[in-house]
Amino acid sequence: MKVIHLLFGLVASALAAMPFVALAQNPIVIKFNHVVAVDTPKGLAAEFFAKRAGELTRGKVRVEVYANSTLYKDKEEMEALQLGVVQMLAPSLAKFAPLGVRDFEVFDLPYIFDSYAELHKVTKGSIGQGLFKKLEPKGIIGLAYWDNGFKSFSANTPILIPDDLQGKKMRIQPSSVLDAQMRALKAIPRMLAFSEVYQALKTGIVDGTENPISNLYTQKMFEVQKYLALTEHGYLGYAVVVNKRFWDSLPADVRDQLETAMKESTRYANDIAKEQNDKDLEAVRKSGKMQVHVPTAEQRQAFKKALIPVHKEMESRIGKDLLQSVYRETGFDPARL
Ligand code: LMR
Repeated sequence: MKVIHLLFGLVASALAAMPFVALAQNPIVIKFNHVVAVDTPKGLAAEFFAKRAGELTRGKVRVEVYANSTLYKDKEEMEALQLGVVQMLAPSLAKFAPLGVRDFEVFDLPYIFDSYAELHKVTKGSIGQGLFKKLEPKGIIGLAYWDNGFKSFSANTPILIPDDLQGKKMRIQPSSVLDAQMRALKAIPRMLAFSEVYQALKTGIVDGTENPISNLYTQKMFEVQKYLALTEHGYLGYAVVVNKRFWDSLPADVRDQLETAMKESTRYANDIAKEQNDKDLEAVRKSGKMQVHVPTAEQRQAFKKALIPVHKEMESRIGKDLLQSVYRETGFDPARL
């Protein structure tokens, strides 16, 4: 009797100690592609999600994260998502217009958000949810908004005033608002995939670019750009999206667990975003490879004056109602400079 008890006990404790991953013979695999380095707000949040998804589903789901465009670069990843070759992405909000959802370009408007707090009024409210609804006819479901940060201009010549960018070839993401923004500075916009930017800067295909510091640093752009002006003239953040067919096909309990993992990851992403960017700015400064300029109040004002007219110019493309509702939410007044 004692032996049977002992055996029973041994089997029970062996089962309890078994890694839960082994309990799931055929896990559901989520391929999560993205284009930035692991050590960035998005890269770290994707790893966090992979870990929590595995834990909360007790191994029923395995998330494979492919960072740094190793699987697909910008345009390809969107196609792969729609085809269901990958299941999850977190493209920047500037990358949704080529799908035909121009509304997302509202996030690219220069100076539309003064702070993360203002931005969150939009992403965490009904406007953010309404924008996600527009993705569904494209076979995509929006799950969350993840922050990165505010973009600054870099080039190989000093950037003190808007005219300093005149005639410069500037890399942009695929957004008409960003195209208009560069033209408003009399610069020449050049659309390039993120994975191509470092090489393009190095070889002179483009003269400059705009980035949140975490991207500038982790892609080593600071090694091939001499000047950084902390203009913080626009926001760059992400929509975490899944293939709709895949998402709808998940068992309801698994979907719930993944939603919980996503909520936790969003909190994590948005908690670390500023910190990562601040840390990377420090690292850029320490590298001694770039001169970092903090614009004076006057210089900041000159950039605003040059760039705020882009709002009006893009109003009909983005939609007047959407623009007005973002203004109402954040308190932005284009007339008040
Ligand atoms: C860019 O292309 O500059 C960014 O969208 C990259 C990213 O995902 O942060």
